[in-house]
Amino acid sequence: MESKENEMMTRVGPGTPAGETLRRYWLPVSFSHEISSDKPKLVRWLAEDLVLFRDEHGRVGLVEPNCPHRGTSLEYGWIEGGGLRCCYHGWVFDVGGRCIEQPGEPAGSNFKDKVKLRAYPILKSAALCSLIWGRATRCRFRASTFSCAKTASAPLLVICANAIS
Ligand code: FES
Repeated sequence: MESKENEMMTRVGPGTPAGETLRRYWLPVSFSHEISSDKPKLVRWLAEDLVLFRDEHGRVGLVEPNCPHRGTSLEYGWIEGGGLRCCYHGWVFDVGGRCIEQPGEPAGSNFKDKVKLRAYPILKSAALCSLIWGRATRCRFRASTFSCAKTASAPLLVICANAIS
C-alpha cells in the first residue's frame, strides 16, 4: 500500500474519506458507567475532541468541547441547572447543545436562544454492554425505531448503515 492510500484509509477526522464514511454509522463512544452525573468527560472520538456528560435526569450529551462564549473547555464545567454549566461565566447547555441559561444576561433576554453547541445524537444500549453510541450524521430512523432493535442479538450498527438523510 502506498503512503497516500494508507493516509486515505486511516485518517478519520472530519472531511476525510474514511472519516465521512464512519460518521454514517452508530459507533461506541463510552461505557455508560464511565459517565457520572457530576462531572463531564473529555473523549477523543473519530479524531475529534468532544465532551460527554450526563445531566441530572440521566440524559447523555456528546458536544463540542469549547464554550461558544469565550472558548473555555467545557471539560472543566459541572452538571447543574438541567445541563452542563461552563466554569467561566456559567452558561448552561443541555444534551442537545442548546444554551438554556446565561446568568450574566439581563432578565428577559433571549440571547441564549441564538446559541448552540454542535451536539451528536446519542443512543444508550443496555443490550450491548451498556455502551453509549454516537452518530455524527442525522439518521432518518427515530430513537423509538432504534430502541426496538436494542434487544436484538445482532449488532445495532447495521440498522442505520444506509439510512443517511
Ligand atoms: S466562556 Fe463559557 S460562559 Fe463564558
